[in-house]
Amino acid sequence: HAQAQATATTKPKSEKRTAEAKEEGTLTTNHGLPVADNQNQLKAGVRGPVLLEDFIFREKMQHFDHERIPERIVHARGSGAHGYFQCYESQADITKAAFLQDPAKKTEVFVRFSTVAGERGSADLARDVRGFAVKFYTKEGNYDLVGNNIPVFFIQDAMKFPDLVHAVKPEPHNGIPQAASAHDTFWDFASLMPEINHMLMWVMSDRALPRSYRMMEGFGVHTFRLINAKGVASFVKFHWRPKLGVQSVLWDEATKINGKDPDFHRKDLWEAIERGDFPEYELGLQVIDDATAAKLEFDLLDPTKLVPEEIVPLRIVGKLVLNRNPDNFFAETEQIAFLPTNLVPGIEFTNDPLLQGRLFSYQDTQLSRLGGPNFHQLPINQPKGCPMGFGTNFQRDGMHQTMVPKGRVAYEPNSLDGGKGPRENPAQGFISAPEEMTGPKVRKRSETFGDHYSQARLFFRSQNETEQRHIINAFTFELSKVQSKEVRVRMLAHLAQVDATLHSGVAAGLGMKETSETLKPAVPAHDLPPSPSLSILGKA
Ligand code: HEM
Repeated sequence: HAQAQATATTKPKSEKRTAEAKEEGTLTTNHGLPVADNQNQLKAGVRGPVLLEDFIFREKMQHFDHERIPERIVHARGSGAHGYFQCYESQADITKAAFLQDPAKKTEVFVRFSTVAGERGSADLARDVRGFAVKFYTKEGNYDLVGNNIPVFFIQDAMKFPDLVHAVKPEPHNGIPQAASAHDTFWDFASLMPEINHMLMWVMSDRALPRSYRMMEGFGVHTFRLINAKGVASFVKFHWRPKLGVQSVLWDEATKINGKDPDFHRKDLWEAIERGDFPEYELGLQVIDDATAAKLEFDLLDPTKLVPEEIVPLRIVGKLVLNRNPDNFFAETEQIAFLPTNLVPGIEFTNDPLLQGRLFSYQDTQLSRLGGPNFHQLPINQPKGCPMGFGTNFQRDGMHQTMVPKGRVAYEPNSLDGGKGPRENPAQGFISAPEEMTGPKVRKRSETFGDHYSQARLFFRSQNETEQRHIINAFTFELSKVQSKEVRVRMLAHLAQVDATLHSGVAAGLGMKETSETLKPAVPAHDLPPSPSLSILGKA
């Protein structure tokens, strides 16, 4: 905080920005021609029509006409900040990732927080999941931890992602409603997808209404793999813990704030950083060896399950500090491209079928969102921490290419012109850890993914009374907006599987008869040991 105050008192950033702007020289066109008049079009007489030859006007207007780029298909509404990550001590026993080795080294980061369902101009305090995406500019290239503020997900297989998002987004015929969850299509889909039930508990909880981006947790969601220098692998779950603790607003507060100040979270983050009150989070790892993984009563590859901290506690390994606002919202917060495929040696994927689908989707969407295959050249996406540079390869040309490679050799192997050019580097290059792969080619889900209710029950029963009441109220409010009785009845049947109090509370709120007997799940819920760490208020 001493450092923070010094920054705040000696150099308010907004003033600096104004000063820089004033120093700009002559106004020019994009092609370098000085502009003499930026107020008037070229006309045939002062009251006459405008001349087609006014290339200065046309250039200005044409550039303006093309200012917007497509918004992200999901997570369109977001806010970002620069900062750094620093580990507390070397994690060499579990991973060879360079940014987790040296406590003296700070690794630059850019973080983007977001809502998922709303459009770019939507309100910050919708009941929704929040994105928590971190780009680490490490010396081994960019590592992106593209996470959320909820540790589980709606679906188990990426095949269902377009359906989930179509169900959540405004209905296609009339663009209504914008609210993430309060409508028929979302609940219709949810009621037909039993695997969604654990996630629903979180989305109907206070977690979906964070008080501030500075007061929310982040999770990698999927299980990943850590590999150390000896090649020993362990499973890992990533967690971000806010230094300010997890805090939420009430539903009533959220609706009022959305009306009065739809930029509530964006402003809160910006202003905290401007005044030097830098948001901080700690990185925690749940490291799970193969023997422990085999003993868990669920499948680590299933992204609708979490590992209770009572079973595998967090190992706190470092801190993330956000200490600089973007200079330009578009160039940084909008143009940043997070890729779950941005890995560094020492961190790898698992076969989680949701994660495996994400490995394709992000690069693919960014090809159109950012206009072609060269978006890695945008300043915010360049791996600025990496001494090897980037794009040191024989890929060439493409839309929005800004590099000017020399020479005629654009292939490898090559020998012309002295056989120059980049070569493979087995000593430092990325090598996937060898993993046995067998099995028939099938389009099928593992039976170990079959229990859709036990962890939903665990979450609900781990909440204190107030938190449970909020969940019941949220389900009641959201389902009360659903016109289809059939959908409401189906949802009540799921809630009955999760917990009797939850079910009867929502049924009473909706004024509906209880419907608990209608559903016979293949794997009924069973009771799990309590997990007090899942309660925010219980923890406080
Ligand atoms: C953004 C796809 C699941 C976190 C996106 C984008 C796509 C996408 C296409 C827009 C990217 C862009 O335009 O740059 C998918 C698919 C999923 C999936 C296909 C499942 C199959 C998840 C999960 C998480 C997550 C499980 C959390 C662990 C995010 C975040 C962003 C995002 C944080 C916003 C990144 C930013 O701020 O730019 N996702 N997603 N997604 N996704 Fe996913």
